[in-house]
Amino acid sequence: MKNTRAVAALAIQAVIDDKQSLSQALPRLAENLDESGKGQCQDFIYAVLRAFPKYNYFINQLSHTKLKPELNLIRYLIAVGMYQLDSKRVAEHAAIAETVEASRVLNKDGLSALVNALLRNYQREASALNQYLTANPNTIRQTLPDWLQKMLKDAYPKGVKKIAKASLQKPPMWLRINPRANTADEFCQQLSQAEIAFKQDPKQRECVQIDPPCNVDKLPGFFAGSSSVQDKAAQQAARLLELKDGQTILDACAAPGGKTAHILELSEVAKLDALDIDEQRLARTEKTLTRLKLKARLISGDASQTTWWDGTQYDRILLDAPCSATGVIRRHPDIMYLRRAEDIAQLVALQKQILHNLWAMLKPGGILLYATCSILPQENKQQISAFLQRQDNASLLPIFATESLQDPGWQILPGNQNMDGFYYARLIKASD
Ligand SMILES: C[S@@+](CC[C@H](N)C(=O)[O-])C[C@H]1O[C@@H](n2cnc3c(N)ncnc32)[C@H](O)[C@@H]1O
Repeated sequence: MKNTRAVAALAIQAVIDDKQSLSQALPRLAENLDESGKGQCQDFIYAVLRAFPKYNYFINQLSHTKLKPELNLIRYLIAVGMYQLDSKRVAEHAAIAETVEASRVLNKDGLSALVNALLRNYQREASALNQYLTANPNTIRQTLPDWLQKMLKDAYPKGVKKIAKASLQKPPMWLRINPRANTADEFCQQLSQAEIAFKQDPKQRECVQIDPPCNVDKLPGFFAGSSSVQDKAAQQAARLLELKDGQTILDACAAPGGKTAHILELSEVAKLDALDIDEQRLARTEKTLTRLKLKARLISGDASQTTWWDGTQYDRILLDAPCSATGVIRRHPDIMYLRRAEDIAQLVALQKQILHNLWAMLKPGGILLYATCSILPQENKQQISAFLQRQDNASLLPIFATESLQDPGWQILPGNQNMDGFYYARLIKASD
């Protein structure tokens, strides 16, 4: 299918109704779109998923009869149309005409008059409807799902509003400059020559925000490995590992390889084993490393088991654990529709098992960096605090002086210094 609006409606349906992640559903649905079509489609999907309760409310207000569940695909398409009218990137008449055309592409010719009528109504009523919601914010849920909102309120009683707001915003585009390909200054000079607006982080000069975001094919030397797209929070992992040349390293949940590549960019390792349970994601790691001209040993295996391990301990282990991903909702709004409160206990149990298993694979005196893109204490400081109390030969290697056994690690909340929500804790194994 080559129609971006139709593909967007199908993808939204895959997430909301079929509980598929966008990473599962989108590659298949968008395979016939060109790069700019994919970008536009992604913009439609993300914007509608971030604000679906609002668009759903508008559709219910504007339609004379309630749309039945079997018309959900058309409901999602109308939401895509409303978002286009709001964003004003396309002329209003074109936005409506293209959305009506998409209903035909979806074989819903009989409903194209409804799409047209509702969008024309919205054109007239949008400002009154939006004003009403601003004055009566509790009419609908305009925030994170209830279960998550509650967990966050328990964890951050004063910060929850700010977290929700940051999680529902469009994320910034951060780049990591590859020092093996160019210096930070050289790369920034090329950005200026290409008239790409950017802000360089004053303390971490290889960390650059592209603002406004652009497609990677516009970035100087991207396909030759000049740089990678990676949030600033994720760029902290390799630095926190205290890397030295000649070390052996395990990246235990490595795919798609963003942090593996950063480690290899920063040090001459003796060996880097990049392990992941998901073979398709591991194939993406291979692609990442090839573009950057880097090498690691890719292993398909389960980090909670020892079957893949040759028995040689590592100097450093990075455990970027499977988690709720509640810190990266701004990048993956589908998480709001896919995660449930019950998942958290299961994830905590899996993280505990992986942590326990990997600890035996760390050399005495070695460092394990535990990382998640979660903002829930159960997966982060509580997990690490319990580990430290259980494991005699483990101690905290603080990142900040304020850390303690009860409150270990560095919790980054979404929007802090414009970063994703992330957690890091460093553990050091006693020497024999
Ligand atoms: C947060 S992602 C890793 C991101 C990666 N470190 C990066 O920076 O590009 C977590 C990864 O854990 C993998 N995973 C989940 N359960 C696993 C297990 N039991 N053993 C190994 N990998 C696992 C997932 O397939 C996923 O690729």
